[in-house]
Amino acid sequence: MTDRDTTAPADTVLLVGASRGLGLALAAAYLDRGAQVVATVRGDDHPELRRLAEQGDGALTIEHVDIDRPDEVEALRDRLGGARFTVLHVNAGVTHREDLTVADIDTDEFIRVMVTNALSPLRLIERLDGVVDPHGTIAVMSSGQGSIANNERGGFEVYRASKSALNQLMRSYAARHRDDPRTLLLLAPGWVRTALGGPGARLTPQESAVDVVETVLAQRGHGGLQFLDRHAGTVAW
Ligand SMILES: NC(=O)c1ccc[n+]([C@@H]2O[C@H](COP(=O)([O-])OP(=O)(O)OC[C@H]3O[C@@H](n4cnc5c(N)ncnc54)[C@H](OP(=O)(O)O)[C@@H]3O)[C@@H](O)[C@H]2O)c1
Repeated sequence: MTDRDTTAPADTVLLVGASRGLGLALAAAYLDRGAQVVATVRGDDHPELRRLAEQGDGALTIEHVDIDRPDEVEALRDRLGGARFTVLHVNAGVTHREDLTVADIDTDEFIRVMVTNALSPLRLIERLDGVVDPHGTIAVMSSGQGSIANNERGGFEVYRASKSALNQLMRSYAARHRDDPRTLLLLAPGWVRTALGGPGARLTPQESAVDVVETVLAQRGHGGLQFLDRHAGTVAW
């Protein structure tokens, strides 16, 4: 359990993509900070999240959405009704199965990664931004690999491009909402040992998630759009 200001109102978090990996660890880290969490999954196979909900004494509820399905995003918005969240955190993301260059990757695989990592998060934000408190935070899991400026080594070209596209779309969203006081964050969580990050990654999901949640909550009320690493350091675009 983390020290926190028990006089401050509890955060209410809508966390999208929490079945496993970083999303599951983020759910636990938000709960540890005293938040009320609605965490989404897209299938029925999420035993660890279910266990967390059972232990959470009502602080965690599980919802369903596949972010690639506009009808499911719409249905989620209807189910949420008049709910208001202080944080919308979009974590869902995918990578390609092999580290192929853009010359070799299958076109359908290119589309799959681009849609889930760039188009769907922004479409979800567009549809659900009404459930975020007017002074709340919209955070999206980007990646250090999304930085164009820092790409000296290449590798995982399409994944990188999808996170750069996500960042660019978020900048356009921010430009369109420049008078909106909400805080917008693109987050680079570090290299994390998950199905996506692989077994050689440096950080456990828990190590990364604690820092990511600390960064998201510390930016409360900041306004504008920032691209931050898990320690709240600025990442070059
Ligand atoms: N691991 C790293 O080193 C690393 C580094 C930088 C950034 N990130 C980013 O962090 C986020 C989480 O990554 P991770 O490492 O935890 O990956 P992961 O273990 O593969 O988990 C991915 C999560 O996204 C969900 N998801 C995928 N497609 C979805 C869709 N269409 N609709 C709803 N949910 C969907 C998955 O749900 P299912 O269980 O249903 O598939 C799962 O909960 C991603 O955005 C990733 O790009 C990860």
